[in-house]
Amino acid sequence: MATAPDQPVVVLDRAGPMPLLGLGTWQMTGARCQAAVRSALEVGYRHLDTAAMYRNERDVGRAVRDSGVPREQVFVTTKLPPGDAGRERRTLDNSLRALDMDYVDLWLVHWPPRDRALVPTWKELLAVREEGLARAVGVSNYSIAQLDGLTTATGEAPQVNQIPWAPSRYDAAVLAEHRRRGVVLEGYSPFKNTDLRHPVLTELAARHGVTPAQVVLRWHLDHEVVVIPKSATPERIATNFDVFGFSLSAEELGRIDGLSRTRRRR
Ligand SMILES: NC(=O)c1ccc[n+]([C@@H]2O[C@H](COP(=O)([O-])OP(=O)(O)OC[C@H]3O[C@@H](n4cnc5c(N)ncnc54)[C@H](OP(=O)(O)O)[C@@H]3O)[C@@H](O)[C@H]2O)c1
Repeated sequence: MATAPDQPVVVLDRAGPMPLLGLGTWQMTGARCQAAVRSALEVGYRHLDTAAMYRNERDVGRAVRDSGVPREQVFVTTKLPPGDAGRERRTLDNSLRALDMDYVDLWLVHWPPRDRALVPTWKELLAVREEGLARAVGVSNYSIAQLDGLTTATGEAPQVNQIPWAPSRYDAAVLAEHRRRGVVLEGYSPFKNTDLRHPVLTELAARHGVTPAQVVLRWHLDHEVVVIPKSATPERIATNFDVFGFSLSAEELGRIDGLSRTRRRR
C-alpha cells in the first residue's frame, strides 16, 4: 500500500483536511478510469474528483478498493447534476451505491439549477451533511451573488465553490471574495485553459528544473487554490503530483498572475 505523503491541505470545517491537489476524472470511464485512479493512488494522490454526470463513479470506487488504500485516507468528491434538483437524496444514494462508499467527503451541486431551486437544493445538501452522508457540501460554477443568496437564506455558506481557474483566468478579486466568505476556491481545467508554451511558463519551468505544467500546478498551490488536473497518462499523473519539492516566489507568482491580461491560448 502506498503511504500518504505529507501534502498541503485546506482544512474544511467539520470535514477535516482536503488535499490541495487531486485527480480530475472527467472524460475517463471504464478500465481507463480505473487504471488512472489506481496509478494516482500509487504515487500518493489522496483526493479524487468525480461526478454523477461523468458516469465513472463505479470505476473510481472500484479503483479505491483495489488500491488497498484505506477509504478514510482518500478525499472523494462527487456532484449532483442540476437536473436532479428535487431528487437530491435519491441521487446521492445512487452515487454512494456506485462508489460503494458510505459517505463522500464533499458533495457539490455541479451547476446552478434554475433560480427557484437554488435555495431548496442547498437546504437538501445541508440536510444530507447532517445525516453524515457527505462530510462537507458545496457548489460548482456559482457566482459570488449566488453564493450570497444561499448564505442569506440558510446562514450557511457553501464550503467549496469549484470553478474554472488557470493563469489565464486569474482574478484576484474573485479569489479575495471567496476568502472573505470562508468559501474554498477549487479550480478546474488548469491545463485546458493554459498555453503551456507561454514564455513566462517555460522560463520559470527552466529556472526550477520542472515542466510548465508543474509550474501551473505549483502556482495554484502557492495561492492555496485547490487544483484537480485530469490525466489518463501514468507519466503525467506522476509528474503532476511531483510538485511539492519547489515553490514560486512572490515575484514569480505575480508574473503568472499577469498572464490573465495577455490571454494567449493553445
Ligand atoms: N465542476 C465542473 O463543472 C467541472 C468542469 C470541468 C472539469 N471539472 C473537473 O476538473 C478536472 C480537470 O479539468 P479538465 O479535465 O477539464 O482539464 P485539465 O485537467 O485542465 O486538462 C486535462 C487535459 O490535459 C492533459 N494533461 C494532463 N496532464 C498534463 C501535463 N502534465 N502536460 C500536458 N498535458 C497534460 C490531459 O491529457 P491526458 O489525459 O491524455 O494525459 C487532458 O487532455 C476534470 O477532470 C473534472 O474532474 C469540473
